[in-house]
Amino acid sequence: MLPARGEFALGRAFVEAVAAEYQLPYVVSNLECGTPLPWPAVIERAEGGVHFAIYGVVSGELSVPACRASDPARALAGAPVGDTVVVVLSDQEEAQDLALARAVPAIDFIVVADAASPFRVPEPLPNGGLRLSNGSRGKMLGVLRGELVPGASAWRDAGTRAAKAAEVDSARVRVSEVDKRIREAADDKTRDRLSRQREFWQQRLAKLDAELAAAVEASGPAHRASNELVALGDDVGEHARTYDRVQAVKATMSGATPMAQGMVESGDPPPAYTGAFVGSEACAGCHPAETAQWQGTAHARAWASLEGVKRQFDSDCWRCHATGAFSPEGPGDPRSLGSLVNVGCESCHGAGRDHVLSPGDKPLVANPPTSQCTQCHDKKQDDGRFDEATYRPRVVHSSP
Ligand code: HEC
Ligand code: HEC
Ligand code: HEC
Ligand code: HEC
Repeated sequence: MLPARGEFALGRAFVEAVAAEYQLPYVVSNLECGTPLPWPAVIERAEGGVHFAIYGVVSGELSVPACRASDPARALAGAPVGDTVVVVLSDQEEAQDLALARAVPAIDFIVVADAASPFRVPEPLPNGGLRLSNGSRGKMLGVLRGELVPGASAWRDAGTRAAKAAEVDSARVRVSEVDKRIREAADDKTRDRLSRQREFWQQRLAKLDAELAAAVEASGPAHRASNELVALGDDVGEHARTYDRVQAVKATMSGATPMAQGMVESGDPPPAYTGAFVGSEACAGCHPAETAQWQGTAHARAWASLEGVKRQFDSDCWRCHATGAFSPEGPGDPRSLGSLVNVGCESCHGAGRDHVLSPGDKPLVANPPTSQCTQCHDKKQDDGRFDEATYRPRVVHSSP
């Protein structure tokens, strides 16, 4: 395990005490401290005839009093080459991980300590290794299966190429959607804004294209890997004392006890959101038919689904189960949502304040593009269930 930014935020003394109490197998390779840390710089062990060397690499941004993160490539200079499987637990950004793999060819796997959005399908590293995520903040367990193939030096995941191809497709669709909107743009200002969007997607497409090409090129014998993310749901046995604490905090955060809001980190709850998004109730009066139809869809129950699993204040979750949260002018805190809970009208049609005041002058998007859906139906969080052809008819208002 890697003690990283999230752990050290609680203070070095606390992290050391917890690690000692639970005998956590921490490993940190590139943190140099005045008083040395009690953990090894590498864990080596043999399982089933295979040797493993496990390193832990923290980001240069990590700040721990009297400690300094050193160059990870130097810390891994002695990594065993040959048959040993070298695993690096990393708290770095993607670019730094790629640089590390280039500098240390012996690396087989880089496991991302805390991916903001966990990715199930491993990404190829420039040295033939794989970079993968094992979930986010202890809510998932990553299970990596590997099969060593004689004569191979690189690793390959069966799903990587297909997943990369799907990402390329979706970036290409976005570029052509923006192109279409540029052609239809009413004025120069809009055109400028859209051109910047186009540039962003064009660059992303180029990057993905190159990655796909690399994945296709890498042929020949390869070790086989597959990564699975297992959600640690209620069916998984719990550590009783920790479980009770978490339940107590969840209950206060959900407003289930009178102390509720004051318990939340920042002290006072944020003020109710008042901005460009006005909520679906504001549309009902003028669009009764669309409203009635929407109320029958899963989108109108999206918030209840989160409440059902007590995750409505979880920063990993609320944005896709609420309205407007992807927009910079939208709500930024799950406690300030008011009528923006659920996937409301404006999730697809855009912010409605101006339209509500002056419908004739300020039209909304009449037929939202698929890129609007895939902000949330992102092929990751929904396990790839989204299928335009079957999903769209289930939410549009006109009967098929
Ligand atoms: C005061 C009445 C009123 C309210 C409130 C209102 N609309 Fe409208 N809306 C209209 C009218 C009238 C039109 C047709 C405008 C036109 O055809 O020029 C319209 C058109 C639309 C269209 C189709 C646009 C098009 O170009 O065909 C969408 C989408 C829409 N509204 C969504 C919403 C949403 C979402 C809300 C809530 C945020 C909302 N409306 C609130 C009156 C309203
Ligand atoms: C703001 C995020 C968001 C956007 C935008 C969005 N969805 Fe959803 N969608 C969700 C969530 C969350 C659910 C699950 C709701 C629940 O069951 O709690 C869902 C559920 C659905 C379902 C029901 C799936 C099922 O099997 O129950 C369909 C169909 C669907 N969405 C289609 C679409 C389409 C088509 C679009 C674009 C036109 C779209 N969605 C846009 C978040 C979104
Ligand atoms: C990137 C957007 C996104 C995020 C983030 C997100 N969800 Fe969802 N969620 C969806 C979509 C889309 C669906 C509908 C999937 C479908 O049925 O096709 C959904 C469905 C659900 C459902 C109801 C249907 C089901 O599959 O049981 C629950 C419960 C749920 N999500 C809980 C969560 C929790 C808990 C989190 C945080 C760990 C979370 N969601 C984070 C987009 C998201
Ligand atoms: C999941 C995305 C989604 C959500 C949520 C959504 N819409 Fe729509 N809406 C669409 C799509 C797609 C179309 C174009 C296809 C159609 O006409 O049904 C559309 C079309 C419309 C139109 C133009 C209809 C016409 O007949 O020309 C109006 C008005 C509208 N929506 C209002 C609303 C209102 C009001 C809500 C909330 C109660 C809402 N929409 C919620 C996706 C959505």
